[in-house]
Amino acid sequence: MKILFIASEIAPFAKTGGLADVAGSLPRALVKKGLHVSLVMPRYRGVARDAEVVDRFDIQLGETSYQAEILKTVLPKTSIPVYLIARDEFFDRAGIYNENGVDYSDNLERFAFFSRAALELINRGLVEADLIHANDWQSALAPVYIRAASAQEPKLARLKSLFTIHNLAYQGSFPTDDFLKTGLDWSYFKLNGMEFYDRVNLMKGGILFSDYVSTVSPTYAEEIQTHEFGCGLDGVLRQRYDRLVGVLNGVDYSDWSPDSDTNLPVQYTIDTVETDKIECKRALLKAFNLPEGDLSKPLFGVVSRLASQKGLDLLAEAIPRLISRGARFAVLGTGEPELEEKYNTLDQIYRAECGVRLEYDNRLAHMVQAGCDLFLMPSRYEPCGLTQMYALRYGSLPIVRNTGGLADTIKDVNTFPDGNGFVFYDASSVALQEACIRALTLYQNQHVWWSIVKRAMKLDFSWEASAHEYIKLYMNVLSA
Ligand code: ADP
Ligand code: GLC
Repeated sequence: MKILFIASEIAPFAKTGGLADVAGSLPRALVKKGLHVSLVMPRYRGVARDAEVVDRFDIQLGETSYQAEILKTVLPKTSIPVYLIARDEFFDRAGIYNENGVDYSDNLERFAFFSRAALELINRGLVEADLIHANDWQSALAPVYIRAASAQEPKLARLKSLFTIHNLAYQGSFPTDDFLKTGLDWSYFKLNGMEFYDRVNLMKGGILFSDYVSTVSPTYAEEIQTHEFGCGLDGVLRQRYDRLVGVLNGVDYSDWSPDSDTNLPVQYTIDTVETDKIECKRALLKAFNLPEGDLSKPLFGVVSRLASQKGLDLLAEAIPRLISRGARFAVLGTGEPELEEKYNTLDQIYRAECGVRLEYDNRLAHMVQAGCDLFLMPSRYEPCGLTQMYALRYGSLPIVRNTGGLADTIKDVNTFPDGNGFVFYDASSVALQEACIRALTLYQNQHVWWSIVKRAMKLDFSWEASAHEYIKLYMNVLSA
């Protein structure tokens, strides 16, 4: 089976969130199972400087012709080919999707060009593929272009497509006039097409014109068919319920494992966690400018985009109360200005208890995972969430809201004999606090605490099982 995996970010080349982690690790698992996978992403500024140019061609979108330059490299430590679509006018910029919080105004043009150029790799025979796996709105036009392929493009016309939704809230919505820039016939801009409230909606195109749609956890696959989580597209998703599947993301433990993590001052295993994890806590406190003080005080960690999705406003409200009960916090994140300001203020007020770093820093992300005792994810919605699974492996117990992939991976220790974290239900600061207080109480009983930590570290959320699910799904796509 030959697959072209199309993604707007792939770790370690470019990353703003979990999509990059998935794009950089799922293909490895698929290749291990015997599939042929190629990847394609835009060539952003500074990406894979040593990559070689392998082709140049023109892409016609409507009236406009754009030249694309194609470079080729490999996914680090593999021979999996990664094609980079270069056009400096579009991708040689300071940001990936936006700058200073403002989306680039030509994002439709940029990603229509990218999606069309990705398919051209197949059309011109650079890549052989039976199906394409497109991800999120940035590559949602690829399935639409396949559906629109003419008899003169037989290689494209016979291609099958899977479209994966990593986050339904980001839909790629643009003014109607921008539709011209897709180069598609206006017949695709209709009620049962890419039109959505008088705007062009790329996500809707991906959902309607792909052979199968998937999302990144079974619970989220159910949730997005409801009014509450459907972001307006629940009706469209219900229309495709028989072609909609939820496959849980996996973890790449070669990247996220405390026994081999070179970002940590010491590596530790299940056998050494009780004695060695504290060194990571010491280093984390220092990195977040918190005095070492009493190391037995529980430390809560956050690594997150600061977006309303993540429920961190609920946490900000709860922090003062939790500090009065002996908790300390290390918060790493960037995002919405109001949230950044809230956390900045907490950092100023609680200098000894709440350390905040408003940065994007991979090394610090690893240090938080290892150095905290409890990992917070109070998300309002969470398609899958990777960081709670990373936390388990680092022996930091997750506190999560019962939604999406969090509901599929974390079981409350007070409810389940094999629990691995703390779960709350209401999207409220009070419910979150209550879960944190339960965690603080359990933390007092160090004997029970370490037995749960060790159980959590043993859990296996590697890609093994999910890659198998994807292969089954690809077979369904091919026979669709
Ligand atoms: P999402 O994709 O919604 O942001 P995930 O949990 O799926 O959430 O993935 C987030 C990824 O981004 C993780 O690899 C996490 O470590 C990383 N990340 C998030 N914020 C930061 C940050 N400020 N610095 C470094 N890494 C971050
Ligand atoms: C999105 C979601 C996150 C998911 C990630 C990878 O960014 O917000 O929950 O883990 O994609 O699929």
